[in-house]
Amino acid sequence: MADLSKITCIEDLRVIAKRRVPKMFYDYADSGAWTESTYRANESDFQKIKLRQRVAVNMEGRSTRSTMIGQDVAMPVAIAPTGLTGMQHADGEILGARAAKAFGIPFTLSTMSICSLEDIAEHTGRHPFWFQLYVMKDRDFIERLIERARAANVSALQLTLDLQILGQRHKDIKNGLSTPPKPTLANMINLATKPHWCLGMLGTRRRTFGNIAGHAKGVKDLSSLSSWTAEQFDPALSWADVEWIKKRWGGKLILKGIMDVEDARLAAASGADALIVSNHGGRQLDGAPSSIAALPAIVDAVGREIEVWMDGGIRSGQDVLKARALGARGTLIGRSFLYGLGAHGQAGVTRALQIIHKELDITMAFCGRTDIEKVDSSILLPGSF
Ligand SMILES: Cc1cc2nc3c(=O)[nH]c(=O)nc-3n(C[C@H](O)[C@H](O)[C@H](O)COP(=O)(O)O)c2cc1C
Repeated sequence: MADLSKITCIEDLRVIAKRRVPKMFYDYADSGAWTESTYRANESDFQKIKLRQRVAVNMEGRSTRSTMIGQDVAMPVAIAPTGLTGMQHADGEILGARAAKAFGIPFTLSTMSICSLEDIAEHTGRHPFWFQLYVMKDRDFIERLIERARAANVSALQLTLDLQILGQRHKDIKNGLSTPPKPTLANMINLATKPHWCLGMLGTRRRTFGNIAGHAKGVKDLSSLSSWTAEQFDPALSWADVEWIKKRWGGKLILKGIMDVEDARLAAASGADALIVSNHGGRQLDGAPSSIAALPAIVDAVGREIEVWMDGGIRSGQDVLKARALGARGTLIGRSFLYGLGAHGQAGVTRALQIIHKELDITMAFCGRTDIEKVDSSILLPGSF
């Protein structure tokens, strides 16, 4: 077992992941759309928010425990759905789900995962997890996917609304992103420098989209799978589809990708249990504001009707605390999770969660609070948010 005690921040994990994960997949994680201005703002806008340092306050007996849609969480953080996670590390989604289970936070599986719904259920002792749904044109496939999610003990459905069409990420095009990587000379040379990753991949049978392969009509091989996937995102998605999915699913529903107050009102009116203020980690509309900048107005508009969460740019427990102070009941982490996974598999994800938890706990104490449930905007310096 590697000694991870010298890994003290998420940036350490990112640096190791960059070394260990093939360029094509590292770049897929560490990139945003077009100029990446929204991707960068997601992180840098957190830095502008300043905390009020308080002293001589009893800091004993602290708690970061909270709930998200009624579910107990060790801290108000869930793992965000990320596609192709099993390409950052062999069996990545299973490892992520196990780390989240042990830590006591929710794990979300993406529709575009490598490990399937059934894989996660089987390898986590049927521990409940969340599933993220993309609406595909093939509604029969969606109905079957919802039934499979139910059978796999999924306890909440996250419906992503901000990917009817795909934002352009330059690096993915230039790298010729594909699953598994095409055996081009450049890819082979790069893979030769990633022996740990290659060994892991040789040891697993999970190397393609596990929720889709073998389940979608007309998908027989890898090339028909990629053309099916590219054609299937539904540009005609509407609020009527949200209602249809809500009825079909019948359980807890979370709407992901809300950045505008008008859309937040529609989300609240839909009867969903939570909404996620999210710009897809800066991967869709470049030029959109950061999620943390969009959060306060949405909390103000609908925070009394629906749980408001956020994701985008969270690289520390300080960011979680700031989001909570601005009214996010929960947060999700995408890249902080992926960097941990790419660096050291399940142990790396656990390390990422430990780092975030410690930063959250200590920062809360410095701000003079001992209970995350009692954190509000009074811990922030007025004028800095
Ligand atoms: C590599 C990668 C893949 C992603 N795939 C999905 C996906 O399949 N479904 C989805 O709803 N969001 C997806 N997202 C967006 C995340 O769920 C989340 O909104 C975002 O990562 C949050 O920003 P952060 O990475 O800065 O934490 C993806 C993000 C990344 C980085």
